[in-house]
Amino acid sequence: MMDDYFDLIIKHFNVVTLENQMKPDHLAPRQRGGEYNFSTADNMINELLLNDILIHGHTLVWHNQTHSWMTEGTPAQVRDNLVNYINTVMAHYKGKVFSWDVVNEAVMERINPGEQNNSWKTQLRTESGWYKALGADFIELAFRTAREADPDVELYYNDYHLNNQRKAIVVANMVKDINDRYKREGNERNLIDGVGMQGHYSLTVNIDDVRNTIQRFVDIGVKVVISELDIETRNAWGTNSGPRKDTPMTQQEQKQQAVVYAQLFKLFKEYSEFIPRITLWGLDDENSWKSFGNPCLWDGDLNPKQSFFAVLNPNRTKGL
Ligand code: G3I
Repeated sequence: MMDDYFDLIIKHFNVVTLENQMKPDHLAPRQRGGEYNFSTADNMINELLLNDILIHGHTLVWHNQTHSWMTEGTPAQVRDNLVNYINTVMAHYKGKVFSWDVVNEAVMERINPGEQNNSWKTQLRTESGWYKALGADFIELAFRTAREADPDVELYYNDYHLNNQRKAIVVANMVKDINDRYKREGNERNLIDGVGMQGHYSLTVNIDDVRNTIQRFVDIGVKVVISELDIETRNAWGTNSGPRKDTPMTQQEQKQQAVVYAQLFKLFKEYSEFIPRITLWGLDDENSWKSFGNPCLWDGDLNPKQSFFAVLNPNRTKGL
């Protein structure tokens, strides 16, 4: 890791999520039966742990960044792949990782109006290789496997667009259904400990929507994590996505972004009892996956932006 970045991390943060290095396409064997590739992630994690930084694991079961062999074959083979992958990775990181995104982005990107109260099982991403092989059951299977693999870690479902209430309803129904079933078996704790709200927002994010979603998850008795927060000032999707496309920010963009960060952190502080972690998706505007939209708290030279100071003091935005 580069020294300046590392110094910044250990100065300002107490928990880190690796952006790509713990995903299945990095850790799993490239071919069925091959070797796992833990060394890149291990080097980063060991250095962070030495500096008292906690590690959140991202992510075990996802439709993206997953080698195709893992979801190919008969349902029984794919089931074995899922169970073996979770067991191997969680055993490797036992004692080093304190919480895991077990399932990532399994619900459809957008829920059609009127369909939010249909069974959550009808609202899943059908393009997922895991879904194609195993149907909706892959989600509960993944969480049960993870719980058995390491009962000491917290287990999360992680997704985006959760400020959209229709999607939040579907995810809340899913989490509650799975947790209720688990508890009916006599378990005292939840199977899904919490939901990760990714938080890839723009300047027009509606804070009341974010509030309603946090409250919705609090109401079903799970923790809420802000897992991938960044606020783009320009649309950085599609062909604009990726690092090193940052442009100078106007003064107005600096201020607008700082105000939105402040509004969000005021809200997060109100709910701090239920929000054990807030993770920023990237440190600086140059290396962010949305660099075109300058979404971070530090600029490309690692200078703190107005947004950084807004996060430190969300109640003091008068001058903005
Ligand atoms: O490192 C290679 C580089 O060597 C190569 O020249 C270049 C050319 O394409 O690619 C580089 O890898 C890219 C990598 O980011 C590092 O920049 C990959 O192509 C690119 O696909 C990858 O994108 C990541 C994306 O997940 C892929 O799914 C982003 O960094 C990462 O921020 C993003 O993170 C996801 C979360 O895991 C889940 N939630 C949404 C979030 C944003 O999409």
